[in-house]
Amino acid sequence: MELSQIFAAFQQDALAAISSATTAEAIEQVRIEFLGKKQGKLKDLQSNLSKVPPEQRPEVGKRFNEVKDAVTYALEERQQQLIKTKVVASAIDVTLPGVRPLTGKLHPLTQTINEFQEIMSRFGFEVEDGPEIEDEYHNFVALNIPDDHPARDPLDNFYLATAGVAGAGIAGAGGGPRLLRSQTSTIQIRTMENRKPPIRIVSVGRVYRPDEIDDTHHLMFHQMEGLMVGPDVTMASLKTVLRLFAAAYLGEDVHVRFRPSFFPFTEPSVEFDVQRGDGWLELGGAGMVDPNVLRAVGYDPDEVSGFAFGLGIARFCMMRHGIKNIRHFYSNDLRFLQQF
Ligand code: PHE
Repeated sequence: MELSQIFAAFQQDALAAISSATTAEAIEQVRIEFLGKKQGKLKDLQSNLSKVPPEQRPEVGKRFNEVKDAVTYALEERQQQLIKTKVVASAIDVTLPGVRPLTGKLHPLTQTINEFQEIMSRFGFEVEDGPEIEDEYHNFVALNIPDDHPARDPLDNFYLATAGVAGAGIAGAGGGPRLLRSQTSTIQIRTMENRKPPIRIVSVGRVYRPDEIDDTHHLMFHQMEGLMVGPDVTMASLKTVLRLFAAAYLGEDVHVRFRPSFFPFTEPSVEFDVQRGDGWLELGGAGMVDPNVLRAVGYDPDEVSGFAFGLGIARFCMMRHGIKNIRHFYSNDLRFLQQF
């Protein structure tokens, strides 16, 4: 038989064997039979090459390579097909145990926020909302924070480059620089501007401060602001509401403590703690709404008084679940999130 016929026969046989293989194991057998490095038929074929007269070698060698490539290509393609078929076949094997699909859950902070709002609604507090991009009037001026107050330092706030541009989600009043709000107390102002007392509201949202990130601080975190304004609102009302709130979230036996403090928008001001084991954990700031703030929104401090408080949401959630690092809330790691 001429060499070219031998080549053609090899190719024909190999391709036939390849297309009739129907399993991954069968195609592997075909591969060994025809292309196997040690005893494959291609190897035999190759041994013929040495007997070819030198002047014919380039021609014959080329033909050999064509045959080899055609067979190798057909084999690899068939292998791929069979692997795919195997996967499809197992995907519809109804006797296999099912794979439970991942279901979404509410983020632990969202769960905490929902619970806070639910607790506060039992005490008659409605939920209010406000913009995250604020003007200086609502973030500082109306809150009795003067120009030279350290809280207004540009390095302690996220100012935006879009000075005075009014747009969707950007606070309205006046021109001037805009910043990411540094506290939810802005919503006290926005609420009182639009409503007459009595007022009982809470507001939950993100606030932004260029802090050093560590286990308990982040550049962005969630606060809940509370505001109650009416004819007879006192420090006793404040302490009662905060105690009831803490007891509802942390348990009846919780102890709440006030420590004297200072905020420009409350007078007197306190920080409040709850007892944890041997120590006290700081949860937020509060106080009686400063008369200057009441005047700024057109209320008469001789007729109404109010209290306000602001607390960090993550603190509570961390305390309840023993979470040590606030970064977990914002890193979207499923290993963390799936635990809630
Ligand atoms: N806005 C204050 C803060 O972010 C908290 C606070 C709110 C204090 C309301 C008093 C009254 O630290």
